[in-house]
Amino acid sequence: MSQSNMYVSLDIGSSTIKVLIGEVDGGSLHVIGVGNVQSAGIRKGSIVDIDATVQSIRKAVEQAERMTGLQVTEVVLGIPSNGVTLQDVKGVVAVNSVNREITDDDLDRVMESAQVMSVAPEREIVNIIPKQFIVDDYDEIKDPRGMIGVRLEMDGTMITTSKTLVHNILRCVERAGLSIREIYLQPLASGTFALTEDEMNHGTAFIDIGGGSTTVSVFWDNRFAATTVLPVGGDHITKDLSIILKTPTEQARKIKHQYGHAFYDDASDDELFEVPVIGAETKDQYSQKYISEIIGVRLEELFELVLEELYRLGIRDLPGGVVLTGGTTKMDGVLQLARHVLNTRVRIHTPEYIGVREPMYSTAVGLIRYASMEDVFFGEGHSEPMGQAYEETAAAPATRKSNGPKQEKDSLIGKTKRFFDSFFE
Ligand SMILES: Nc1ncnc2c1ncn2[C@@H]1O[C@H](COP(=O)(O)OP(=O)(O)OP(=O)(O)O)[C@@H](O)[C@H]1O
Ligand SMILES: [Mg+2]
Repeated sequence: MSQSNMYVSLDIGSSTIKVLIGEVDGGSLHVIGVGNVQSAGIRKGSIVDIDATVQSIRKAVEQAERMTGLQVTEVVLGIPSNGVTLQDVKGVVAVNSVNREITDDDLDRVMESAQVMSVAPEREIVNIIPKQFIVDDYDEIKDPRGMIGVRLEMDGTMITTSKTLVHNILRCVERAGLSIREIYLQPLASGTFALTEDEMNHGTAFIDIGGGSTTVSVFWDNRFAATTVLPVGGDHITKDLSIILKTPTEQARKIKHQYGHAFYDDASDDELFEVPVIGAETKDQYSQKYISEIIGVRLEELFELVLEELYRLGIRDLPGGVVLTGGTTKMDGVLQLARHVLNTRVRIHTPEYIGVREPMYSTAVGLIRYASMEDVFFGEGHSEPMGQAYEETAAAPATRKSNGPKQEKDSLIGKTKRFFDSFFE
C-alpha cells in the first residue's frame, strides 16, 4: 500500500463505518475496496466506547482488505463537525530566495505563519484552507509558486475542534492498528467534491443527513463558511418506526430501507407489508403511505431545524440552493419533502463511482479526493505519517519535538500533521 496513488479513507459515522480503498489515476478515482459495517461505540459524533469502536473499525478495514488482497496500514481520516469553529487566518512571509522566486519553501512558511495565532489549549487545529495568496499587491492567486515577489501572504480559514474529541478518535484509529495519512473535516472533504463550482461560489447549504446526526455546512464565495451539527438523523426515524409499529429496531431499520418514503403525497398504499410485533406471534400489516406519515413528521421537523440553524448562522439567502447527501437521503421522497419545507432548489448528491453509488459514501469518497488533490497541489511523499508519530509519542511523548530537522524538510506536505504537532508534544 505504499504506492502514492493508493488511498484508504476512513469515515467513522455514528451509524456505519465506511472504509474505501481507492486508486487515483490522473484525475479519476477507481474504488477497488469497500468496507461497511454498523458502528458501535459512537454517539452524536463522539466516541463513547473505545473498544467497540476499535472493533468496528477493524471489521470495516478487514472487509475492504478482503476485496482487494491488500493490507491497509494508513488512512485518510474524517473528523466530524461537532464543536468545530472556523476563523479567518492570515500568513505573511518575506520571499526567501535571492532571485525572489516563490518556492515550495515559501508556500510552506506562509501556511505555517498562519498558524501562529493563539489557539486555546483545549482546541486543536484540524485544517487550514488557503483561500487566496497575495504576492506583493496582486491578490486572488491560487498558486504563487514560480512567481516573483518580495512579500507573500495567504488568506485562509482555520478549522479547530475539541482536543478531547479528536484525541479519542485518534486513539481508536491507532488501536485499530492504523496510522494516519491525513485528517480532514468531513463536510469539507465531502462538500468540496459534491458541489459544483457555481454552487461553491454563489452560496449553498450542504446537508449530510447521516444516522445519528445531520451536518449543515455552508459554502460561500468559494470558501467553507460555516458548519454545525444537529443531533437528529436517520436512526431517529428507525426509532420512531420501532416504537409506533411496536417492532424490533432491526426490523424497523429493514422496513425503513425497503419501504420507506418521506413524502406522504407520493407514497403508495397499494401494497401492504407485514411487520413482526414485539412479544407477539402475529404480524401487523402496514402500507408505505402509513409509514410515510411517521417518517415525514420526523424529517419535516429536521428540515425545520435546518432552517433555524441557517437563520442562526446568519444565512438569509442561498442563491446556490441546497445539496443533500448522507445515507438517509437514499430514501424515496426526501427530495420532494426537502423542496417543500426548505422552499428552495434542492438536489441530492450521490458519488458516481462504481461500488459506492450511494449518498452514504460521499464523505469517504471526498476524503480520498481531497487527499489526492492536496498531494497534487502540495507535492507527494509525506515522510512521516501522523499516526506513526502518534504511536511514537504515545510511548515517548517528547520524541516528536526532536524530529526537528527532518520535519523542517517536510515542506508543505506534512502540513496537516504539523497542525497536530502540538497534540503529540
Ligand atoms: N435505503 C435507505 N433508506 C432509508 N434510510 C437509509 C437507507 N440506506 C441507509 N439509510 C440510513 O442512513 C443512515 C446512515 O447514513 P450514513 O452512513 O450517512 O450515516 P453515518 O455517517 O454513519 O452517521 P453520522 O454522519 O450521523 O455520524 C442510517 O440511519 C440508515 O438507516
Ligand atoms: Mg456521516
